[in-house]
Amino acid sequence: MHFPTLATPFIFGATALAASLTQVSNYNNNAKAKPGMWVYKPDTVKSDALVIAIHSCQSSAQKYFANSKIPWHQGSDRKGYITVWPSSTTECWDVSSKASLSHDGGGDSNAIANMIKYAITTYKTDPKKVYVTGGSSGGDKDADELFGMMSNVLAATYPDLITAVSLYSGVPAGCFVSSSGASAAWNNTCSGGQSKASGEAWGNVVRNMYPGYTGSRPRMQFWHGSVDGTLSPNNYQETVKQWTNVFNVSTTPTSSKPDTPEKNYRTDDFGSNVEGIWAVGVGHSVPSHLDVSEAWFGL
Ligand SMILES: *[C@@H]1O[C@H](CO)[C@@H](O)[C@H](O)[C@H]1NC(C)=O
Ligand SMILES: *[C@@H]1O[C@H](CO)[C@@H](O)[C@H](O)[C@H]1NC(C)=O
Repeated sequence: MHFPTLATPFIFGATALAASLTQVSNYNNNAKAKPGMWVYKPDTVKSDALVIAIHSCQSSAQKYFANSKIPWHQGSDRKGYITVWPSSTTECWDVSSKASLSHDGGGDSNAIANMIKYAITTYKTDPKKVYVTGGSSGGDKDADELFGMMSNVLAATYPDLITAVSLYSGVPAGCFVSSSGASAAWNNTCSGGQSKASGEAWGNVVRNMYPGYTGSRPRMQFWHGSVDGTLSPNNYQETVKQWTNVFNVSTTPTSSKPDTPEKNYRTDDFGSNVEGIWAVGVGHSVPSHLDVSEAWFGL
């Protein structure tokens, strides 16, 4: 046996060993929805945590991963945790159909849950350290609408799988529901900030996505810009109402820190499980704050 000389650098060169984003073609997905699963395993895995990074509308796992404003790839290299990058088959993730808004309903949320289960088994990560984030792009056209929305839906449909969420510029879980049942539909009422309900009603939306579930719920951190022109800033307060109701805590913050984590941002804690970060003067693309999100996850 002999190798052609030219092939040698590709076989033994550093590039062949460096970690890269890799597609998992079969992740035991029994859901009707078939988004792609991509995984990034850093060269040195030093952590048994798993982070799921959900891309924005008009994007993909590969584009999101390559986006320099999305820091989870760097976080993974630095702290040695594995990241999973789901890739949607539709322009935006489906956060509107009954299938995706139900536990094991066969929609996108179900497929992402299958990715999580596959990853825990295959990479032997700790099932108690499953973290979900959907982050803003910081203004790139191809990734301008982030999927804070799917992060909220995952938290509601798979509380049994997810430990904590740090999402940017989302809406309450179920806010994008489509009355016709259409999948991946845009909802102007919600995006425009006219979907308002009591905490009890929003909490019921979450509870009804997984009826009968009584276990623990993911700790929720959500960021929103006060001048978001894509998903109205009203959604911040509605999201506060939703998750404080789920955790049965007051909508009055237990602590409210101005200029935290930076000037003009305010960090509101509602007990230890719900945290809202209100970014004054910031639009739809709230920049990712890797260190703050990682701290919320305990990474
Ligand atoms: C949009 O969502 C709201 C709930 O936020 C719902 O009441 C309404 O029916 C939805 N609109 C459409 C067109 O489906
Ligand atoms: C919510 O908390 C209050 C006390 O703060 C308590 O009286 C009530 O039973 C709790 N409700 C549920 C559903 O746990």
